[in-house]
Amino acid sequence: MSAPIRVAVTGAAGNIGYALLFRLAAGDCYGKNQPIILQLLEIPTGMKALEGVVMELQDSAFPLLHGIEISDDPNVAFKGVNQAFLVGSRPRTKDMNRADLITANGPIFVGQGQAIANNAASDVRVLVVGNPCNTNALIAMHAGKSVPKDRWHAMTRLDENRAKAQLAKKTGALPGEVTNVGIWGNHSDTMFPDFNNAKVKGQPVPSVADRAWLEGEFLKTVATRGKAIIEARGASSAASAASAAVDHMSSLWNGTPAGEFTSMAVCSNGAYGVPEGLIFSFPVTAKGGNWQIVEGLAQDDFAKAKIANTIKELESERETVKDLLK
Ligand code: NAD
Ligand code: LMR
Repeated sequence: MSAPIRVAVTGAAGNIGYALLFRLAAGDCYGKNQPIILQLLEIPTGMKALEGVVMELQDSAFPLLHGIEISDDPNVAFKGVNQAFLVGSRPRTKDMNRADLITANGPIFVGQGQAIANNAASDVRVLVVGNPCNTNALIAMHAGKSVPKDRWHAMTRLDENRAKAQLAKKTGALPGEVTNVGIWGNHSDTMFPDFNNAKVKGQPVPSVADRAWLEGEFLKTVATRGKAIIEARGASSAASAASAAVDHMSSLWNGTPAGEFTSMAVCSNGAYGVPEGLIFSFPVTAKGGNWQIVEGLAQDDFAKAKIANTIKELESERETVKDLLK
């Protein structure tokens, strides 16, 4: 058994938190030999509910859960943490776009970015889930400048999983038989789920699904799935978001399988013409907590136009929050 790692989760009493904490404590992210200490952050009005969640975590008697600490102070919650899930923030309602949340949620990530830089362990990795997650991660990265830029991530794994599910359904394959579905860009309707480079049972997707469906219904379904869930449930996706967060950090921790890639929104180094410094989702491979953008993926004119559009949107979000990027 390894020494415990410290894992922070913000918004821990919320809907995603309620699904995420139990997956983490069960060993679904870091493996069955890796104990964890959970460090949970809430706002003062969420602390009472968080106490109830803690009781339930205790009552689950998870062998890998070596401690639970709760606080409404980011400087306490991020003390010594190796991994941080930044979930705490407002979800949108059905008449909103994710970008409409920038004004409400953006400022949260200034204080939390600073608190991570001042308190976290030197090997910290951060995943921003709270929306609009790419731009919130950008804000946190700027606020936490002493933490290397490659440590700040935003989550597009849910979009990848959604794309895999749609491709599996269309082709009669199992979700696990769909690989290399890279999401490019923003976690928003402008994202591009890259069907050109994706595979079903090792076959290129364009050879097993028709182009009109891929460019039309497939793209639309994946891009607007969050809204469809809000309309159906009356609340934003939670269990699938928690599951994707586990998948993202698990890929980073355990590595991606040989020959396969996944999607992570990370700080652009200029690859594929994406402006440097944007938090942009790329197809990546990962190993031992580090990631690399997959090189040499083909992009046809359709893909290039989609990617240009999502770049434009992220640049405009960056402009909106420029006062928070000191
Ligand atoms: P929720 O309202 O159920 O829970 C959010 C929790 O965060 C609440 O308990 C609230 O008290 C807490 N909170 C608010 N401000 C905080 C702060 N400054 N510090 C700590 N905690 C704070 O919402 P949810 O359904 O859990 O969703 C959380 C966020 O995740 C939303 O912004 C939602 O849009 C986003 N989301 C992202 C993805 C993705 O794929 N990236 C998927 C689903 C949801
Ligand atoms: C999702 O994709 O389900 C989340 O980002 C929630 C939302 O607002 O769409």
